[in-house]
Amino acid sequence: MKILSGTSNPSLSKSISKHLKLKLVNTNIKKFADGEIYVEINENIRGNSVFVIQSTATPANDNLMELLLCIDALRRSSAKNITAVIPYFGYARQDRKVVPRTSISAKLVSNLITNAGAHRVVTVDLHAGQIQGFFDMPVDNLFTTPIFARYIKKNIKSKNLICVSPDAGGIERTRGLATKINADLAIIDKRRPEPGKSKVMSIVGNVQNKDCIIVDDIIDSGGTIVNAADALIKQGAKDVHVFVTHAVLSGNAIDKIKKSKIKKLIITDSINNTARIKNINKIQVLSIAPLMAEAIKRISNSTSVSSLFN
Ligand code: R5P
Repeated sequence: MKILSGTSNPSLSKSISKHLKLKLVNTNIKKFADGEIYVEINENIRGNSVFVIQSTATPANDNLMELLLCIDALRRSSAKNITAVIPYFGYARQDRKVVPRTSISAKLVSNLITNAGAHRVVTVDLHAGQIQGFFDMPVDNLFTTPIFARYIKKNIKSKNLICVSPDAGGIERTRGLATKINADLAIIDKRRPEPGKSKVMSIVGNVQNKDCIIVDDIIDSGGTIVNAADALIKQGAKDVHVFVTHAVLSGNAIDKIKKSKIKKLIITDSINNTARIKNINKIQVLSIAPLMAEAIKRISNSTSVSSLFN
C-alpha cells in the first residue's frame, strides 16, 4: 500500500501518512507556463494499492484535473488498485437539475474519476449521500459526526443543547449529531432567491434559551450560517456554535464570521485554510487525519469501515 499526495492539501496528506507510518510517494507535480499540469511518479508502484489524496477545493478545476492526472499516471504505471481519497469532494452541490437546462456536475465529475482509472473513492461528508450512486465502484463516505460529538461533549457544557439544520438538505446529518450528543433538533426553512444568496423563512422547533449547534457540510460565502445564527438569536437562542466539515470560505466569508453573532465556528482540515485563519480565535480546526488514516488502513486490510461510526 502506498499514499500519493496531490498539491491541494499537503499538510493533511502529511498528517495522514504520519498516522499510517508511511512515506508519501515521491512525485513531481508542476505546471507548465501555460497552466497545464504535469504529473510524474518518481518511484516504482507496479502492483501496489495506491491511495491518492486530493481535495478538489479552490482552485477547483486545477485540483480536479491534477487528481485525474495522478490517477491516470498511476494506471499507466501498473498500480494494482487506485483509491481516490477526496476529503473535500467539490462540484457536489450540483447533484440534480434544479432548473431546466443545467448540468449535473457531480455526475460529470464521477464519470471523469471513473474513466481516469480509479477503483474506489473515499470521501468525507459528501454533500448528498446519493452521489455514491453516481459511481459504479465502492464509495466510502466518512462522517465527521464522532469528531464533532467528542468536541461538544468535552467543550460545550450545557443541559440545553439543540442541534439546528440550516436547511432541509442537512436534516439527516444534523439528526445524526443530535442523537450522538442527546440533544433536541430544530430545522431552518432556508430559501435561495438567487445563487449565492440565502434567506431564512422560519425556524421549526423551539430555540428559546437554548444553546444552539448548527451543523452543515459546507460553509462557502458564509451567508447560510450567518443568517441562521441571526435568526436563532432573534428567536431567543442563548448562543450559537457552528460545526462545518468543509470550510470553502470564499470571498469575505471570514470577515462575515468575525462580525457575526456566532460564538465559535468549528471546521475541519478537509480544505487547507491554515494561513487564512491564523490568529482568528473564533474559528477552530479539528483534524480529520486520524479518521482518514484509520479508514485507509481498514480498506487496505479489508476490514469494516462502517463500524468506525457505530
Ligand atoms: C447547501 O446545501 C450547503 O449544505 C451549504 O449550506 C451551502 O453550500 C453554504 O453556502 P454559503 O456559505 O454560501 O451560504
